[in-house]
Amino acid sequence: MKIRKLRLDETKPMELLLLADPSPSIIKSYLDRGECYVAELENRIIGAYVLLPTRPHTVELVNIAVAEEHQGKGIGKKLISDAIQNAKKHGYKIIEVGTGNSSINQLALYQKCGFQMVGIDKDFFIKHYQEKIYENGIQCRDMIRLSQDLEGRV
Ligand code: COA
Repeated sequence: MKIRKLRLDETKPMELLLLADPSPSIIKSYLDRGECYVAELENRIIGAYVLLPTRPHTVELVNIAVAEEHQGKGIGKKLISDAIQNAKKHGYKIIEVGTGNSSINQLALYQKCGFQMVGIDKDFFIKHYQEKIYENGIQCRDMIRLSQDLEGRV
């Protein structure tokens, strides 16, 4: 499997990105400003992530997705590790990520990859998404913000 930057002339992997974010318009807005990377296996794109510069020295992992048939095989972890290495290479000091209060597996995954919870954006998903979202029997209302210091400071 190879992870590489998606070229500007390539079609965006919308089907994958929609697994992580149900809003095509929100996806489009961060694709316009961020950089999309893809995991390729036998000429098929099976995973993707998007890095978006947000504040000075700070970049956010705004989308990460693995095709359903390839989930649970360590590809998500590899994509996150690649995103962290990429952010370091580009000189960022902090990488952030946000996920729903109901995204139990993702909260486990990000913490296993070195992210620490730093805040809660209350009612983010109520304010920004038209449809109600449920996962694990929990309504997704709040965005849990996680962050990782890329210079190793505590
Ligand atoms: N408790 C503890 N650990 C859990 C867990 C849970 N409930 N659910 C998952 N994990 C852990 C796994 O155990 C594994 O860690 P391990 O190697 O230590 O066992 C890790 O999280 C998942 O690893 P991996 O196989 O690399 O994940 P993946 O390839 O399935 O990718 C996603 C993860 C989230 C990218 C993928 O499931 C996906 O595309 N989901 C849909 C889109 C999405 O939700 N994106 C994120 C939006 S915030």
